[in-house]
Amino acid sequence: MTLNALDHSHAPGMDQLALSPVPLVPEMRLFLAEDAIVLWARLEAAAGVPLPAPYWASAWVGGQALARYVLDHPESVAGRSVLDLASGSGIVAIAAAMAGATDVTATEIDPNAIVAIRANAEANSVTVTPLEEDVLDGDGRGADVVLAGDVLYDESVADRVRPFLLRAAQRGALVLLGDPDRGHLPAVALDLMASYTAQGVGTPEDSLLRQTNVFTLRPRSAARE
Ligand SMILES: C[S@@+](CC[C@H](N)C(=O)[O-])C[C@H]1O[C@@H](n2cnc3c(N)ncnc32)[C@H](O)[C@@H]1O
Repeated sequence: MTLNALDHSHAPGMDQLALSPVPLVPEMRLFLAEDAIVLWARLEAAAGVPLPAPYWASAWVGGQALARYVLDHPESVAGRSVLDLASGSGIVAIAAAMAGATDVTATEIDPNAIVAIRANAEANSVTVTPLEEDVLDGDGRGADVVLAGDVLYDESVADRVRPFLLRAAQRGALVLLGDPDRGHLPAVALDLMASYTAQGVGTPEDSLLRQTNVFTLRPRSAARE
């Protein structure tokens, strides 16, 4: 399916998408929904079939924290290959590219997110390679750095993401996780790297969150989990 909404994104009154500032990442602008629920309804009406929620049309607070961290600590990604898991809008992947990563792969399972990642990368003048593939049974496709912004948002997804991240850490990748703690964090092997005041865009439930964090996953402890 193609995402016609982004073809008209310069007209937010018409399609609820606008190239918008990102609170924790003022260096970046993303095509975001003014109201993600309205956008979802409109996309489903146009498609005539049920669609996944347009998570790509919000800048999730976990992704904002990780993007902020990567931009403030470019040494974490500069000159290295990066895989951004569950990229959504591409916020974290774009930050990695801005910070000097050699190549950035942004994985997603929602075809509309793939369109959004392309549009957002172009809007921010960086190169990101979108990959429409479920990579959770692997260990990060050999990337030096695995980034995961707000991927522990749902129990069933989190149950697959945690072992994926642990495998990536075990093979030696630097694993960085941006997460406001929705109750699905790994119980062990996490080191807190940074905390930020949460500022949600477009996700009503996130208005209740006060803090968003960046963690790294320790490989030795990971082996024991
Ligand atoms: C809460 S959003 C976070 C998006 C982005 N990282 C951010 O922080 O704004 C989670 C995303 O995970 C994607 N997703 C879920 N399961 C996935 C999988 N197995 N592989 C890749 N992406 C997945 C969804 O399509 C959704 O866009």
